[in-house]
Amino acid sequence: MTIIVTGGAGYIGAHVVQALAESGRDVVVVDDLSTSSAARVDGFPLHRLDLAAPSAPDELAQVLTSHGATGIVHLAAKKQVGESVARPEWYFRQNVGGLGTVLEAARAVGCDRLVFSSSAAVYGEPAGGVVTEETPAAPINPYGQTKVVGEWMVRAAERAWGLRQVALRYFNVAGAGRPDLGDPAVLNLMTLVLDRLERGEAPVIFGDDYPTPDGTCVRDYVHVADLAEAHVAALDHLERPDRSDTFDVGSGRGVSVAEMLTAIAAASGSTIAPRVVDRRPGDPAVLVATAERIRTELGWAPRRGLDEIVASAWEAWRAQRAAGLDPIRPTA
Ligand SMILES: NC(=O)c1ccc[n+]([C@@H]2O[C@H](COP(=O)([O-])OP(=O)(O)OC[C@H]3O[C@@H](n4cnc5c(N)ncnc54)[C@H](O)[C@@H]3O)[C@@H](O)[C@H]2O)c1
Repeated sequence: MTIIVTGGAGYIGAHVVQALAESGRDVVVVDDLSTSSAARVDGFPLHRLDLAAPSAPDELAQVLTSHGATGIVHLAAKKQVGESVARPEWYFRQNVGGLGTVLEAARAVGCDRLVFSSSAAVYGEPAGGVVTEETPAAPINPYGQTKVVGEWMVRAAERAWGLRQVALRYFNVAGAGRPDLGDPAVLNLMTLVLDRLERGEAPVIFGDDYPTPDGTCVRDYVHVADLAEAHVAALDHLERPDRSDTFDVGSGRGVSVAEMLTAIAAASGSTIAPRVVDRRPGDPAVLVATAERIRTELGWAPRRGLDEIVASAWEAWRAQRAAGLDPIRPTA
């Protein structure tokens, strides 16, 4: 059983590659290395391919055929919200066009199992903040819109030619399964805070007057190694017929920004007090999954808690600096 992992050299992808290999599957990586490095998937076959390029469908079909691929996990995408606002046409070409390539190639060679990386960004700013898969999608930026369109595309392929598909809507992903597989991008709370602490700067809290217990925003964090295991569960699910579905991948537990900063301070030993500034537009007060469907249907639940998420992120952050690797910073 050979699984093609697009975006397999990325932060999450490298963990998915490890988890699939540990589950006994053969794994082949397809990645253009635009935001990652081949060193993260050392020892696995890697095809360097830009999925948004015009020639990509034929090239990917060739990869699928030559490896006898039975399934695809499609993670390759651009993920910077600010950049997606500044360059929406490019984001749609990358994320929607890249998925179009995957579906075209899969159909051409009869590879009919796909796990698609979606995002909690599909929910936008939902009333109440606690969501299920039935909560209407209402993305508030082009990045989130590309994920909604992606979910439509995989469902349309299911109806048109019998693709079996699972869309996983990831909530806040953090931590590292190994010190050399940390998140290199300074785009989310965890890495933003670690980056500031390393430079001796105060972590920033965007608003402490939200209607939450401590006034700061509440999110749902998942350890990246647990998330990777959800992909194994999704592929197992697709072994059975008629099992296409969409799942929120969250812990079902909300953690506030202030709680997260306290945990990071404990792990890092930092005594720098956070600085509170104005709210940012587009930050819902609460965004947490019930995550009941994935527990019931896939038998998946996170095994690692907040302490392990934070400790592993901190260890990986230091390992990246020790290896002389620069963080990836937002481009817009
Ligand atoms: N990190 C998160 O918190 C988060 C949350 C929700 C959803 N996601 C989704 O998970 C997936 C993986 O995210 P990540 O955090 O690992 O990001 P990442 O940037 O580390 O990984 C993306 C990978 O895709 C590759 N890639 C990008 N464009 C490509 C193209 N046109 N052709 C081939 N390869 C391409 C990159 O080189 C990289 O290896 C993405 O689809 C992202 O939208 C991530």
